[in-house]
Amino acid sequence: RMSLLRSASQHLRRRRDYSSAAASPERKVAILGAAGGIGQPLALLMKLNPLVSSLSLYDIAATPGVAADVSHINTRALVKGFVGDDQLGEALEGADLVIIPAGVPRKPGMTRDDLFKINAGIVKGLCTAIARHCPNALVNMISNPVNSTVPIAAEVFKKAGTYDEKKLFGVTTLDVVRAKTFYAGKANVPVTGVNVPVVGGHAGITILPLFSQATPASNALSHEDLVALTKRTQDGGTEVVEAKAGKGSATLSMAYAGAVFGDACLKGLNGVPDIVECSFVQSTVTELPFFASKVRLGKSGVEEVMGLGELSALEKEGLESLKGELLSSIEKGVKFAQES
Ligand code: NAI
Repeated sequence: RMSLLRSASQHLRRRRDYSSAAASPERKVAILGAAGGIGQPLALLMKLNPLVSSLSLYDIAATPGVAADVSHINTRALVKGFVGDDQLGEALEGADLVIIPAGVPRKPGMTRDDLFKINAGIVKGLCTAIARHCPNALVNMISNPVNSTVPIAAEVFKKAGTYDEKKLFGVTTLDVVRAKTFYAGKANVPVTGVNVPVVGGHAGITILPLFSQATPASNALSHEDLVALTKRTQDGGTEVVEAKAGKGSATLSMAYAGAVFGDACLKGLNGVPDIVECSFVQSTVTELPFFASKVRLGKSGVEEVMGLGELSALEKEGLESLKGELLSSIEKGVKFAQES
């Protein structure tokens, strides 16, 4: 009987070892712009993620310090810092997931589109390197204007012959994070259980939260409440830009949102079922070539771009009025990538 017990316990131990190894394959994550306002807290949060085995921190300056600092945290990921163009290739080599918060943020009075000139060039350069060094990686684009930088990335990858629409994501998770927080506050429900899809794009009126699909549902909200909640979600970024009064835009909440989305991508890659997040991706949900909606994540990235579901009259109206601006931002990105 002793030996039977022993062999059963050995068997259990083996199974446990097997399942923990199987649940956590090696995954390399690269953050480009890792020394910035978003990059640093995002590096911290990704270092805390047990799914990450290797964390590559790249920036044009200051990454050695950030990497040395973060590397002392006693979690799984091995951290390396890379600085300057010469080290970009090595930073990217073998990456499963590349997260891009590189670029300039907004100052008061600026729209996301005002960032276009500088950030478009930065994104183009970084995506050219991704195509060369880790063409199979999932790319999470945080750099604004997301409505244009995602189409730029797609064009760069097409030119390089590496484009896979399943692997390119505009990160709109902060809009979802804000919609959840603001909705929970107004509807007076515990925020932890709240879900709100946010569709469209990632700037001003192109951000369309679908509060009619929010869970738990609330009948305590009037039409005026919903209009105000929608506007606050759309202007959430500006609220932070103004409060920071010239010292940049959302960084901490964005790092959180980026870490949530990055984690979802890794879970998808690892084969965890039913991972659904909103993201700005190549889409046929509307007539626009890129559109944010709920996306099911899987082993090769986007497994399914989900439809919009039923919209309220207010949301239908919002959808129609965002299409013009969103299309012109998409076209602006495509044109930049093709002409430069
Ligand atoms: P930041 O200025 O604090 O940091 C940007 C970092 O990018 C700097 O460390 C800079 O050295 C680096 N950088 C510049 N050129 C680079 C290059 N060629 N390669 C690698 N790194 C480079 O700015 P912050 O606040 O971190 O914002 C970064 C971007 O994220 C901005 O474009 C901002 O608009 C965007 N953002 C996006 C949000 C979203 O919801 N998707 C929310 C908030 C900001």
